[in-house]
This record gives sequence, C-alpha cells and structure tokens, in this order.
Amino acid sequence: MLHTAVSCWQPLLGLALVAVFVGSTLACPSRCECSAQSRSVICHRKRYNAIPDGVPIETRILDLSKNRVQAVNPDDFAAYPHIEELDLSGNIIAYVEPGAFNSLYSLHSLSLKSNRIKLLSLGVFSGLSNLTNLDISDNKVVILVDYMFQDLRNLRSLEVGDNELVYISHRAFSGLLSLESLTLERCNLTVVPTDALSHLHNLVRLHMRYLSISSLHPYSFKKLFHLRHLEIDNWPSLDLFAANSLHGLNLTTLSVTNTNLSFFPYQALRHLPYLTHLNLSYSRIRTVEGGLLQDLVQLRELRLAGSQLVSIEPYAFQGMRWLRSLNVSHNRLDTLERGVFHAPETLQVLLINNNPLVCDCRLMWLQQRRHSISFGDIQPECSTPEGIHGRPFKEFKETLLSYYVTCTKPKIRENRTQMVSVEEGQSARLHCNAEGAPLPTIFWVTPRRKHLTNRSHGRVTVHNNGSLDIKAAEVQDDGVYMCVASNTAGNDTLMVSLAVKSLGSLYANRTQHYTDTSNATANGTNLPNVTFGLDLKTILVSTAMGCFTFLGVVLFCFLLLFVWSRGKGKHKNNIDIEYVPRSKSNGTSAEEADQGAGPRRFNMKMI
Ligand SMILES: *[C@@H]1O[C@H](CO)[C@@H](O)[C@H](O)[C@H]1NC(C)=O
Ligand SMILES: *[C@@H]1O[C@H](CO)[C@@H](O)[C@H](O)[C@H]1NC(C)=O
Ligand SMILES: *[C@@H]1O[C@H](CO)[C@@H](O)[C@H](O)[C@H]1NC(C)=O
Ligand SMILES: *[C@@H]1O[C@H](CO)[C@@H](O)[C@H](O)[C@H]1NC(C)=O
Ligand SMILES: *[C@@H]1O[C@H](CO)[C@@H](O)[C@H](O)[C@H]1NC(C)=O
Ligand SMILES: *[C@@H]1O[C@H](CO)[C@@H](O)[C@H](O)[C@H]1NC(C)=O
Ligand SMILES: *[C@@H]1O[C@H](CO)[C@@H](O)[C@H](O)[C@H]1NC(C)=O
Ligand SMILES: *[C@@H]1O[C@H](CO)[C@@H](O)[C@H](O)[C@H]1NC(C)=O
Ligand SMILES: *[C@@H]1O[C@H](CO)[C@@H](O)[C@H](O)[C@H]1NC(C)=O
Ligand SMILES: *[C@@H]1O[C@H](CO)[C@@H](O)[C@H](O)[C@H]1NC(C)=O
Ligand SMILES: *[C@@H]1O[C@H](CO)[C@@H](O)[C@H](O)[C@H]1NC(C)=O
Ligand SMILES: *[C@@H]1O[C@H](CO)[C@@H](O)[C@H](O)[C@H]1NC(C)=O
Repeated sequence: MLHTAVSCWQPLLGLALVAVFVGSTLACPSRCECSAQSRSVICHRKRYNAIPDGVPIETRILDLSKNRVQAVNPDDFAAYPHIEELDLSGNIIAYVEPGAFNSLYSLHSLSLKSNRIKLLSLGVFSGLSNLTNLDISDNKVVILVDYMFQDLRNLRSLEVGDNELVYISHRAFSGLLSLESLTLERCNLTVVPTDALSHLHNLVRLHMRYLSISSLHPYSFKKLFHLRHLEIDNWPSLDLFAANSLHGLNLTTLSVTNTNLSFFPYQALRHLPYLTHLNLSYSRIRTVEGGLLQDLVQLRELRLAGSQLVSIEPYAFQGMRWLRSLNVSHNRLDTLERGVFHAPETLQVLLINNNPLVCDCRLMWLQQRRHSISFGDIQPECSTPEGIHGRPFKEFKETLLSYYVTCTKPKIRENRTQMVSVEEGQSARLHCNAEGAPLPTIFWVTPRRKHLTNRSHGRVTVHNNGSLDIKAAEVQDDGVYMCVASNTAGNDTLMVSLAVKSLGSLYANRTQHYTDTSNATANGTNLPNVTFGLDLKTILVSTAMGCFTFLGVVLFCFLLLFVWSRGKGKHKNNIDIEYVPRSKSNGTSAEEADQGAGPRRFNMKMI
C-alpha cells in the first residue's frame, strides 16, 4: 500500500482514508510530533509564536502548550474543523478575538490555562456548542461579563481559578445548562457570587479554594438543585458561617477546611440530612457540643483534624447511626468517651493520634476495641498516666489496662465544715479543692439553688481550682453553699456556710440590694424572699425596738394609773416619762442604737 502515499492532502477517491493515515505522517509541522492513528499533532514547547504551518486538516488533537503564541484570531483555526482537543496553555496569549474558535464545531476540550488574558469579551466562546471542558485558569481575568459562556450549552467542567477576578457578573454563567463541575479558586472575590451561580441548575460539584471571603451569608447558594459536593478550602479569613447559608442545598459531601471558624456550624448543617462526608478540618473549632448534630443521620465520615478541639461532649454525635470513620487527629483532646457516639459499634476507623490523651476509664472502651478499630498508620498514645506515657494503644496488655486505665472518685480536700464570716462589702472566698481521676469538674450551688460553673457570674466567680469568690459581699449572699466535684466515677460534696455581717441601714434600701447573682428579681412580680436576706442581728434589733416601745406603753399606763390613783388626793399635773426613741440615723446597728441615743425625758401635762 505504500505507493498510494503520494499527495496526502488531496482527497483521493477510494483510497482517501488510507492516504490520510499514511500521509499525515508525512505532513507534519517541522518541530512537532504527529500521530496518524490518533490524528494528533503535539507541538509542546517548540517556540512557535503562531499556529505552525502544515498542521493536517484532519487533525483531532492539537497541542500547542508552552509556546509563544500571543493572540488568537478567527482565521487561525478556520482550516481545522475537526479539532476536538485544543491545548493553548502556557503561552503568552493576551488577547482572544471574539469568534476566534467559531469554526471549531467539534471542539470538546479547550485549554487557555496559564496565559496573560486580561479580558475575555463577549463572543470569544461563541459557536462552541460541543465543548465539554474549558480551562481559563491562571490568567489575569478581572471580571466575567454577562453571557460570556452563553453558547456553551454542553460544557460539563469549567475552571476559572487563579485569576484576579474581583467580580462575576450576575448572568456570566447564563447558558451553562450542562455544567456539572466548577472550580473557582485563587481570585480576589470577597463574597460568594450567589446570583451568578444560581444559573447553574445542573451543577454537581463546586470547588471554591483560596479565597479571601470572610463570611458565608444566609442563602449564599440559590437554585443549585443538583449540587452534591461543595468544597470550601483555604478561606483563611472565614469566621462567620451563617445559620441559613447552605439553605436550599442537598449535599452529600461538604468540606469547609483551612478556615478561621471558631464554632462548629451546627445550624448551617441542619438541613443536610443526606450528608455522608463532612470535613471541617484545620479550623479553630474548640468543642463539639452534645445533641446538636442529630439531623446528620446519614453521616459516614467526619473529619475535624488539625483544629483546636479540646472536648467532644457526650451525645455530640447523637443521631449519626452510620458513622464509620472519625478523624480528629492533631487536636487537644484529652479523651473521647463512648457516650459521644450514637452507635460506637459501627465505628471502624478512628484517627485520634497527636492528642494529649489521658488514659483513664473513659478511654477504656477504646482500649478494649483496639483490635477492631483501625487507628491508621500512627497509633494513638497516652500522655498520662506516667506509667504508660508514650506507649501506643496496640501494645497494651490486659493487666496493664486494669492497672492504669482506671478512674477514681473525686475527693474534696477541704475540711468537712467550713464557716466563712465576712462583713458586708468585703470579699469572701470559699474553697473547694478536689482530686480524682479524671480531674473533677466543680460547680457550686448557692443558697438560692443557682448552679455556678467555672467562670465569672457577675460579682461571683468560680475559679479553676474550685474556689468561689464573692466580690463585695452583700447581706443576701448569706447562707449555705454547696460545692459539688464530679467526674465519671462519681461525685463529692462540701457544704460551706457564709455569714455576711450587715453594716448598713437596717430598713432602708433593703429591696434595692437585690442585684442578686441568681437574677431572682428578673421578673418584677417575682420578688425574692426578703426574710431570707434579714440576718439575725436585724431581727434582734427590731425585736428590741418593739420591746422598748412596748415597755414605754406599759410604763405610760402604769404612770397613768399611778397619777390617777394619786389624783384622788392631791392634783399633780406633770408626768415624767422615760422613752428610748428609735434611731433614724444612718449606720444604725444594735450597738450604736444603745449608745448613741440614751433615754430621754418627756414632760406631759395631764388635762
Ligand atoms: C456536535 O457534535 C456532533 C457530533 O458529535 C455533530 O453532529 C454536531 O454537528 C456538532 N455540533 C455542532 C454545532 O457542530
Ligand atoms: C488580587 O489580589 C492580589 C493579591 O492580594 C493582588 O496582588 C492583585 O492586585 C489583586 N488584583 C485585583 C484586580 O484587585
Ligand atoms: C482569625 O480570627 C482571629 C480572632 O478573631 C484573628 O485574630 C485573626 O486575625 C483571624 N485570622 C485571619 C486570617 O483572619
Ligand atoms: C437529596 O439527595 C439525595 C441523595 O443524593 C436524594 O436521594 C434525595 O432525593 C434528594 N432530595 C431532594 C429533595 O432533592
Ligand atoms: C476533606 O475530606 C475529604 C473527604 O471527606 C477529602 O477529600 C479532602 O481532601 C479533605 N480536605 C482536606 C483539606 O483535608
Ligand atoms: C485526617 O484528616 C485530615 C484532614 O482532612 C487529612 O489531612 C488526613 O490525611 C486524615 N488522616 C488520615 C489518616 O486519613
Ligand atoms: C482543717 O481544720 C484544721 C483544724 O480545724 C486546721 O488546722 C486546718 O488548717 C484546716 N485545713 C484546711 C485545709 O482548711
Ligand atoms: C452524686 O452522685 C450520686 C450517686 O453517686 C447521685 O445520686 C447524685 O445525683 C450525684 N450528684 C450530683 C450533683 O451529681
Ligand atoms: C440607699 O439608697 C440611696 C439611693 O438609692 C443611696 O443613695 C444610699 O447610699 C443608700 N444607702 C445605703 C446605706 O445603701
Ligand atoms: C435577668 O433575667 C432577665 C430575663 O428574665 C434577663 O433579661 C437579664 O439579662 C438577666 N440579668 C442578669 C444579670 O442575668
Ligand atoms: C413572672 O412571674 C409570673 C408568676 O411567677 C409568671 O407567670 C410570669 O411568666 C413571669 N414572667 C416572666 C417574664 O418571667
Ligand atoms: C422563697 O422560698 C421558697 C421556700 O423556701 C422557695 O420555694 C421559693 O423559690 C423562694 N422564692 C424566691 C424568689 O427565692
């Protein structure tokens, strides 16, 4: 058949097909590699500054990557209607004329990656109705204008990352009816382009990486009915994840990684019952609270690696009956209790390495399942107790476990009976120092049955070491306080009675004093138990007052009787009465009342 290889570019009747195959090997741009079989022309890194001459007309694949092409004009490709894949990446193209690819009816894949395009005007992609993949990443495009992708009704995948995009016009993605995958990365966008994205009704995957967007606003994603995979990665300033930001989406995988989030976005995840994979790694999330993720019933895999997790509360994964894999490596967890999981038996993979684990009875369940759960390549280790510090889980023998991996009930070290006495306005400190393994948590119950945990509650603060501090004690702080130290093994309690000596006026300002720690006066109608606030001294003094008044009246009566009886004889009009007045001065205490205001003489005239 060799003799038929005459003039390859002239279609020869009958032998045309053969001629093309053989001939194309002959007509090939000088520096390129051509393959007749795949009808490809590879001119990678050949220093061309335009489309080379001699590209066979039947060419299906044309690779012009890493050359020095500067511009693309409509005439350039007019002669090659069969091109399906065109690679123009890595050139120095600054301008693409509208209609440049007009004649490439069969084009499936077009790459303009890594060029110097600043503006893609309307019509650049016109006529490319068969295009399925388009890559315009790594250019200098600043804006995506309305309708610029209008004709690309078969486009499946679009890469627009690594540009200097500051704005995506609302109708820029109009017409992309088949788009399934969109990558938006390394641009200067400051908000999610909600309106532009709302045209992508068939989008399945959306990747948004390396963006300096600081918040996800409510309803950020509209009309993305088919979106299943959302990736948000490397948004270093993202710290706000609004409750309704993912509203309307039906995702199966969600990654929100390398962010500045400090709170687990419980609310935002509420409406995602089909979510199977969730990745919130590399954030500043500190805790996963209990019972707030109950809607994630389908979740299979959860990653929260490299964050600042200090605790995963009991019932945190309540509702996740299929959770198979949990990756919380590189955090600050000291334990992971069994009660965290809805169904601990379904767990197959647990990555918990690089956490300061305290191996006590709370981790016993894990140690016992160390042969059925995969801990990955890096075995978790105990940081305490000392005896098994740094030993991988896998090495534990049963005897070792029963010796070390235990818990002890809390024991409060303070004396059983503590009585603290202060004067009004002074500060009071009640001690409650407890030991136990794991270290007990301490809370106080006030005389008003308010529970105070380890933090500040206005005037009252509970410290890490368990002490309760009352700044400027008030009379109504008086009473018996209970300290409760508890851990998984049990609890211990201690009663401390606090007496606050009143200095102030006994009757004035009594109700105004109730700026109570327990907020009992919050409800105006719900007045506090005033009698509770009256101390013993007050009661004594008022009783004493009552007695004096009473005695005065009795004395008066006696005198009346006396005078009356005497009056039968001689008349005497003057009566002397001794009377102790009730002091109204400030700073009245029982003592002052006695000393300050001595008995006074009253002179009365009988009529
Ligand atoms: C798209 O490709 C099909 C064949 O794959 C072809 O028949 C059709 O003409 C092409 N569309 C256009 C607008 O050229
Ligand atoms: C985009 O951000 C980069 C880096 O912050 C900056 O150098 C560039 O000038 C910005 N471009 C525009 C168009 O704002
Ligand atoms: C992350 O948040 C912290 C605290 O709000 C702030 O100090 C820090 O600058 C933030 N980081 C970034 C990259 O925005
Ligand atoms: C959500 O997605 C799941 C799985 O992809 C699908 O079975 C379900 O029908 C979808 N629900 C809605 C309302 O689209
Ligand atoms: C997040 O998890 C997904 C799998 O669920 C994984 O594909 C992705 O690479 C992870 N992202 C990071 C930043 O680790
Ligand atoms: C755990 O998750 C992080 C974040 O996605 C990932 O980088 C790491 O590879 C995962 N570890 C394993 C062993 O899969
Ligand atoms: C316990 O009481 C004894 C005597 O009553 C006293 O000496 C000791 O200091 C008290 N200890 C504490 C911790 O208060
Ligand atoms: C302390 O433990 C006992 C049983 O050991 C339990 O009945 C009680 O409710 C616990 N008290 C507190 C405050 O946890
Ligand atoms: C009583 O209340 C008044 C005003 O509410 C205040 O000026 C006065 O200092 C209070 N007296 C005492 C003893 O607290
Ligand atoms: C007291 O309770 C009310 C509501 O009952 C609340 O608005 C107010 O903030 C509370 N004050 C304090 C100091 O807790
Ligand atoms: C105030 O107290 C009354 C009776 O105790 C109660 O019915 C009402 O709901 C309370 N109001 C508020 C705002 O707490
Ligand atoms: C008053 O005391 C009673 C009984 O001691 C108690 O049930 C009630 O809650 C108290 N009310 C307030 C406002 O403290």
